[in-house]
Amino acid sequence: MDTEKRAEEFQQRIDAGEKIEPKDWMPERYRKQLIRMMSQHAHSEVVGMLPEGNWIERAPSLKRKLVLLAKVQDEAGHGLYIYSAAETLGISRKEMVEQYIYGDAKYSSIFNYPTLTYADICAIGWLVDGAAIVNQTMLARSSYGPYSRSMVRICKEESFHKKQGYEMIARMANGTEEQQKMAQDSVNRWWWPSLMMFGPHDSDSPNSAELIKWQVKLKTNDELRQHFVDRTVMEAKAIGLEIPDPDLKYNEETGHWDFGELPWDEFWNVIKGNGIMNKERIKTRKKAYEDGAWVREAATECARKKKLGEEKAS
Ligand code: 3HC
Repeated sequence: MDTEKRAEEFQQRIDAGEKIEPKDWMPERYRKQLIRMMSQHAHSEVVGMLPEGNWIERAPSLKRKLVLLAKVQDEAGHGLYIYSAAETLGISRKEMVEQYIYGDAKYSSIFNYPTLTYADICAIGWLVDGAAIVNQTMLARSSYGPYSRSMVRICKEESFHKKQGYEMIARMANGTEEQQKMAQDSVNRWWWPSLMMFGPHDSDSPNSAELIKWQVKLKTNDELRQHFVDRTVMEAKAIGLEIPDPDLKYNEETGHWDFGELPWDEFWNVIKGNGIMNKERIKTRKKAYEDGAWVREAATECARKKKLGEEKAS
């Protein structure tokens, strides 16, 4: 059957809300888009361990240390989960990982900001995981089967992270004067970078139209960002924290919160690799990847020998 006919049939399956599975026919462009998006999502989860990992040794109590350790481990698991889902598209883990460590593949801009105080760990849980959960609950309905299914488990853990972060920052916002200041300072530094997680405006998003057509994305960048702002403004108010946006105003007509323009120069600068921590993050990941090469080689050799043994025995 010619490609055009297949592409037509493929679109009919998407429009009928069917899941596309690894062995199904799919346009090459659909495959490429998914590899790009899923691998960058997985990179984000793994690099995302670094800013939080920075505070494991300095958490204010054993309990907070345990909570943070568990969260960082969850993020590692999310990364491996999504890499495995991406491998079903015919790309190896090695290729994906080396695309960002040695190449220019992206990971979420948010992780190129430094975690300066422990309040940042609370703000990350509340705002960054909060933004991620808005995006990922949408992706749990994405047309590609393995991606949507990987999101189901990740969303459960991510929403727990968000609630945990909100509880922690609420405690600080209602704590000593010093803690209140730390919490507000952290929200001031993490608010706009959290909004950037949803990507550029729809009008500046070269990938969105295609991803919406193929129901990889079911909502646009701006729709998800608005949903995040609407819910988070109310959460901030509930614990007496200010959102650092003088243009924030409830719009009776639309029922949404209008907000100011994001610092787009900063956004494009960070995703071009010029953020405060970009170089540091890649340097750390590169060292871990190269120091761990012997483990990968040993595991691969073990698997090869085991397979050889099984073939001889059969
Ligand atoms: N950080 C880095 N790059 C970004 C970005 C961001 N916040 N927003 C957009 N970009 C990049 C895109 O990757 C694209 O570049 P590319 O074509 O070279 O890949 C370019 O900017 C234009 O953006 P588009 O809107 O056209 O790109 P997309 O349609 O892919 O939308 C996205 C961007 C909303 C991030 C989308 O890719 C997406 O939903 N990805 C899956 C979710 C994801 O990656 N989340 C990471 C959050 S971190 C996380 O979940 C960890 C948790 O533990 C907190």
